[in-house]
Amino acid sequence: MNIRLEQTSDFREVEELTREAFWNVYRPGCTEHFVLNQYRNNPDFIPELDFVMEEDDKIIGHIMFSKAELVLDDGSRCPSWTFGPISIHPDYKRKGYGIKLLNYALERAREIGIGFLCMEGNINFYKHAGFGLASKMGIHYHAEPRDAEVPYFLAQELIPGWLKSNGIVEATYCPPKGYFVADANPDAFEAYEATFPKKEKTLQPGQLPQFCQSCGMPLAKNEDCGTNADGSINFDYCKYCYQEGHFLQDCTMDEMIEHCAQFIDEVNKNMPQPMTREEYVAMMRKFFPMLKRWRK
Ligand SMILES: CC(C)(COP(=O)(O)OP(=O)(O)OC[C@H]1O[C@@H](n2cnc3c(N)ncnc32)[C@H](O)[C@@H]1OP(=O)(O)O)[C@@H](O)C(=O)NCCC(=O)NCCS
Repeated sequence: MNIRLEQTSDFREVEELTREAFWNVYRPGCTEHFVLNQYRNNPDFIPELDFVMEEDDKIIGHIMFSKAELVLDDGSRCPSWTFGPISIHPDYKRKGYGIKLLNYALERAREIGIGFLCMEGNINFYKHAGFGLASKMGIHYHAEPRDAEVPYFLAQELIPGWLKSNGIVEATYCPPKGYFVADANPDAFEAYEATFPKKEKTLQPGQLPQFCQSCGMPLAKNEDCGTNADGSINFDYCKYCYQEGHFLQDCTMDEMIEHCAQFIDEVNKNMPQPMTREEYVAMMRKFFPMLKRWRK
């Protein structure tokens, strides 16, 4: 097994590896290979920490790092760092390669002066490389309530005392914009994805919860989803909102909220505490502007 810096000639192979590693793991399909494809030109990308792992004469692993920022309570910003995607080819998963690659990269990161990292991930893997819950270090996640203990938001001081020596008692982290490149450029992503061999997307257990991006209905199985013009499954929208490439109702966000409010009794069946219609509407007014159909 060998770990070395990524070369230009590795780019496509590493993107193929990333696509294989992430496919259907967190959502139907994946976008992490496009993030990597775009990030190498991003000023936040750190080329000295862009590693591949080789075994059996091929690349089986990859990790990249990025500059990031922490926002302090007075609104000032402090440079910080994050990493990912990290990928191990499915044929080599759970054999100890991932942790070796991560520990190697963290050591190199420490050597070049990276003092603190935070990122989103599964603690059951990252605890083996010294990560803990970021909330325990006073670092909050931008998309969660400030006092929440966010189980997937992890951090580590690579240089002990780095937070204190930078005067940070509490701060908030938002992932760098470059990580959202597929959402921001859906057409560019689709064109890029079309350059790979077709792979079947599917909803499966263990993925992050998926919701219809028009009405918020949970999408638990492929049958809940709408269809594209060519008859394939559309994983963004439910079958009640989207069929054959078209929305079934031409409506505003407020009209959709009114429409959904009729189903309050159905929704309450899955709630620990039943909501009133007013509470349900208030919740939708907060949540719907983040859905793809209504996002400005
Ligand atoms: C996550 C990933 C990089 C881990 O690499 P790996 O080579 O499979 O992991 P390792 O064999 O080095 O695992 C080290 C330890 O972490 C644990 N672990 C690894 N992946 C885990 C996961 N997804 N969930 C829970 N525990 C995990 C292993 O059980 C192992 O612990 P053990 O030695 O006590 O059994 C790899 O599985 C992968 O590429 N997954 C798909 C892409 C992905 O999820 N990337 C990370 C995004 S945050």
